[in-house]
Amino acid sequence: MSSPAVPLIRPARLPDVPAILAIYNHYVRESTCTYQLEEETLAQRKSWLKNRKPEHAVLVAELGGVVAGWAALSPYSLRGAWRPTVEDAVYLRPDARRRGVGRVLLGELLAVAEKNGFRSVVARISAEQAGSLALHAALGFGEVGRMREVGWKFGQWLDVVYLQKMLENPAQRK
Ligand SMILES: CC(C)(COP(=O)(O)OP(=O)(O)OC[C@H]1O[C@@H](n2cnc3c(N)ncnc32)[C@H](O)[C@@H]1OP(=O)(O)O)[C@@H](O)C(=O)NCCC(=O)NCCS
Repeated sequence: MSSPAVPLIRPARLPDVPAILAIYNHYVRESTCTYQLEEETLAQRKSWLKNRKPEHAVLVAELGGVVAGWAALSPYSLRGAWRPTVEDAVYLRPDARRRGVGRVLLGELLAVAEKNGFRSVVARISAEQAGSLALHAALGFGEVGRMREVGWKFGQWLDVVYLQKMLENPAQRK
């Protein structure tokens, strides 16, 4: 690990969207950590941030006053009975990785999920994404399933690992 960093974690605001978009589109172009194939537009990401329910939080991690990463809670499914369940996403600027920022950011996102009354957080991670799997395992996620060859990106089949973390003492929004 390079030198550890102490990020400032705060809710995302509209002016953060260009930084959030730039980080995400890097991985759309370069990585199997997202199965999205086409880069997103600024308008799409603005609408993503604006049209969320408040409990579906988006956090950013700042290093030296600049956004170095973001994390979000999104509905796992839009059908009503799935309401207690959310899915996480966490993306760091490539130069900010391996400095402990992902651990702090995802840890804070889990605390927000618990405070907002969710029962569990689910992550769907491409099986070859060792860093993301290690981060989620370090924060208490356990594997609950695996799907074979459900994705195709960069000329290869991709398996997906399903992970879940149950939250303690949630307010149990119904
Ligand atoms: C996955 C990601 C969020 C991890 O964040 P990070 O800041 O680099 O991770 P941290 O430095 O906080 O490390 C947290 C733990 O995960 C482990 N880890 C992180 N990256 C790793 C890697 N590439 N390989 C193996 N382990 C890794 C660390 O060893 C650490 O455990 P430790 O503290 O016990 O040593 C970041 O690398 C990233 O943005 N990757 C690309 C996007 C992505 O895959 N996002 C997830 C999609 S939901």
